[in-house]
Amino acid sequence: MPKTLLISGSPRKGNSDFVLAEIFDRIDGEKEFLFLRDKEIKHCAGCLSCHEKPECAINDDMTEIGNKMIDSDVMIIATPNYFDNVSGLLKDFVDRTHPFYAAESLKGKKLILIMVGGGKIKGSQEALTNAMRGFVKYLKLHLVGTYCFEALHQNDLKQNPEAISKINEIFEKTVNKNKK
Ligand SMILES: Cc1cc2nc3c(=O)[nH]c(=O)nc-3n(C[C@H](O)[C@H](O)[C@H](O)COP(=O)(O)O)c2cc1C
Repeated sequence: MPKTLLISGSPRKGNSDFVLAEIFDRIDGEKEFLFLRDKEIKHCAGCLSCHEKPECAINDDMTEIGNKMIDSDVMIIATPNYFDNVSGLLKDFVDRTHPFYAAESLKGKKLILIMVGGGKIKGSQEALTNAMRGFVKYLKLHLVGTYCFEALHQNDLKQNPEAISKINEIFEKTVNKNKK
């Protein structure tokens, strides 16, 4: 059975968390749910020492998160749309994965990306694809799906029955299908 790591990049307990929690509940296997807002993740310092040694010079929660990523088979990352981009929390996380670029330690891992935005789905779809293109490309990840939801207020998706059918679709098409 694959190990699934779910990562929320929202600073609030809102729609991104809701989508991930629903997927988490459906997974019958090893799984872990991380909230970036609860972690200490400093900005990348740009020192490039990870090009010399496959580790980061900064000592914070990114070490533990990185080990969990290496240990996982499937990663599901959800973020709010902030100014047609990912959240700052997620961008800091992405920048800090640079040691995995140099060492290719996440190569081939499956990735599912989710974005929730207050505007139209199309806008979020473009924003997510553009913002996460480098993460997928440079870490050599296997992107199995990108999904977007429209919701503005904290509990909007909880009250939207269409969201549940889309969550079922994400689970069936990506997580369940990718069971080893
Ligand atoms: C700083 C900020 C910027 C935002 N920018 C956008 C945007 O460019 N496009 C959009 O569709 N929604 C935007 N939103 C709305 C959020 O994406 C929306 O509230 C979403 O539900 C947040 O997800 P969450 O509940 O998982 O935190 C923005 C919200 C904030 C707070």
